[in-house]
Amino acid sequence: MIRKAVFPAAGFGTRFLPATKASPKEMLPLVDKPLIQYGVEEARAAGVRNMIIVTGRGKNAIEDHFDVAYELEDLLQKKGDGAQLATVRAITDMADFFYVRQNMPLGLGHAVLRTMDLVGEEPFAVVLSDDVIDSKVPVLRQMIDVYERYSADSVLAIQRVPREHVSRYGIIKGKRIAEGVYEVLDMVEKPKPARAPSDLAIIGRYILSPAIFPALVKTRPGAGGEIQLTDAIRSLAGRERVLAYEFEGVRYDAGNKLGFLMANIAFALKDPELGPDLRVFLAKEKKR
Ligand code: G1P
Repeated sequence: MIRKAVFPAAGFGTRFLPATKASPKEMLPLVDKPLIQYGVEEARAAGVRNMIIVTGRGKNAIEDHFDVAYELEDLLQKKGDGAQLATVRAITDMADFFYVRQNMPLGLGHAVLRTMDLVGEEPFAVVLSDDVIDSKVPVLRQMIDVYERYSADSVLAIQRVPREHVSRYGIIKGKRIAEGVYEVLDMVEKPKPARAPSDLAIIGRYILSPAIFPALVKTRPGAGGEIQLTDAIRSLAGRERVLAYEFEGVRYDAGNKLGFLMANIAFALKDPELGPDLRVFLAKEKKR
């Protein structure tokens, strides 16, 4: 049973400045929902109940978003707008939310380490909400299935990426044990293409064993001078069963402007209200 999911959300969002000067990147809207809500909904759909969000300065909007908005609910009630009321209420009711602050930007590994006491001695998920994945079966659900079927201790989501992009990711060296499933032998954070052990890149979904916490305590700063989650998982790979899984689904890197725009267009095209008109607009724009 995976009951808890960790959402690192303390980053400054520098790639989206000036939009993120005073608002969290995680609250940028993908069509009509903030980015982080997609990750939370995915975790919920995979059976996770407790959402642990790692925030920092200027991130209050995230807490407000998942909390009850009394005035708004009262207004919608008085207007008799039951549909909007249900939409707003569902955000709060879908899960239990816990917050912890990462008061220094020391890296993804450091963010996860901040949740040690909240997670405790049980396996848990990590969701990077920048990685938006459109799939029939929620990716975390697919990973939990692999975790159970192969009695794994940890499972990492992976995807093949073009060789020239490997330096943007954690890259694994794996031994294939079944279709799309690899045993992780080694991994390296943001390697130069010539030094990458493969083109299998870690995408922002993890199931981790609680042994990650003592490993993170021992992890020294790595790539970019940050405490890297990849380095801590690597140190577990010899001792525990760490698997990597090529998930089914389309992934958008909403952590950069182009990927964010692509995700917005792809999701809007699938929306029955927006899709048809947007398609007409895009065809017109193409001709200009
Ligand atoms: C993080 C991880 C990296 C992973 C990536 C997936 O990097 O450190 O291993 O491949 O997320 O999106 P970041 O994008 O935070 O630089």
